[in-house]
Amino acid sequence: DKGQYRHYMLKEIFEQPTVLARTLQGRISKTKVLEAAFGADASGIFDKVEGVQIVACGTSYHAGLVAKYWMESIASIPCQVEVASEYRYRKVFVPKNTLFVTISQSGETADTLAALKEAKKSDYLASLVICNAPNSSLVRESDLVFMTQAGPEIGVASTKAFTTQLIALQLLTIALGRRHGLSADQEAKMVAALATVPDEVAKALTLDTEIKITSEKFADKKHALFLGRGVEYPVAMEGALKLKEISYIHAESYPAGELKHGPLALVDADMPIVAVAPNNELMEKLKSNLEEVQARGGKLFVFSDQASAFPSSDDVTVINVHSVPDTIAPMVYTIPLQLLSYHVAIVKGTDVDQPRNLAKSVTVE
Ligand code: M6R
Repeated sequence: DKGQYRHYMLKEIFEQPTVLARTLQGRISKTKVLEAAFGADASGIFDKVEGVQIVACGTSYHAGLVAKYWMESIASIPCQVEVASEYRYRKVFVPKNTLFVTISQSGETADTLAALKEAKKSDYLASLVICNAPNSSLVRESDLVFMTQAGPEIGVASTKAFTTQLIALQLLTIALGRRHGLSADQEAKMVAALATVPDEVAKALTLDTEIKITSEKFADKKHALFLGRGVEYPVAMEGALKLKEISYIHAESYPAGELKHGPLALVDADMPIVAVAPNNELMEKLKSNLEEVQARGGKLFVFSDQASAFPSSDDVTVINVHSVPDTIAPMVYTIPLQLLSYHVAIVKGTDVDQPRNLAKSVTVE
């Protein structure tokens, strides 16, 4: 039932404050991550983990890419991420005491399931799935299970599944991190920030009207470029996937530092550039990347916070997101990008919930 909403996708975007709160419920105390959320055997296994291999497809793969930044910077353990269709057919090297992690909304994605079956023949410490479908194949086949509490996702474009996966992955990062130098104090700070995610996401949703107006500027465009740096790069990748999936605009994502190595040649007045730009340590670098884009006549759409003080002009549309701690910025900055793709699709009149050529769950190779 879509309730008051015109599409399932919009309903699911707006459900995020509720389902994110549900995904956190019982998984954190005021200051700590509660490991039982990963299964009764989790703690003993986590004690041994020295590295993480993540495998997933599509949007779930992007969640994994965000987690790589977290795992290496916060948990101080190596983390590899790969799409399942590549992983499953490759001879892989498995470092000692590596945890094999799959991420899947449906739990039935054929390539991800096949990758897990391959992994079970290798020398992994154990397998963990982050999943939204309780009775699914991936849940049955994995040693450890973390259930996201997004509820049924009907729209083909994944929205609430992604942000709840990010919550799960940050809880995992903290759980592993506390065994590798993450202090109780740092954990408490991160947990406090996580507890604000539902509210911050609700604030981001209030940008809806502004984004709807902005979306009209994309309607006649054939291409768009999404830029981010650091942990915001996979957020930009996810923004580009959403746009291409439901509005059929060709959207590419790049780490902003790569512009000069090729994509800058594409930039002209017909190429909207979307930048994910919270005020973090890479902000100044990103700003100078964006100045280069502007100098070539590119039209910029910058998702930023007040602290970044991004000047708007005829060629630069700045959408101000409430300022949040770096650790939760990926969850919060995903929201305006979801809304952007939704409204662009509406302007273009595409079938938002059932985009052409796509299925909700890819159960064949
Ligand atoms: O159910 P899964 O999370 O395993 O699905 C993976 C992808 O098929 C899925 O995320 C797909 O990319 C979405 N349609 C993206 O919106």
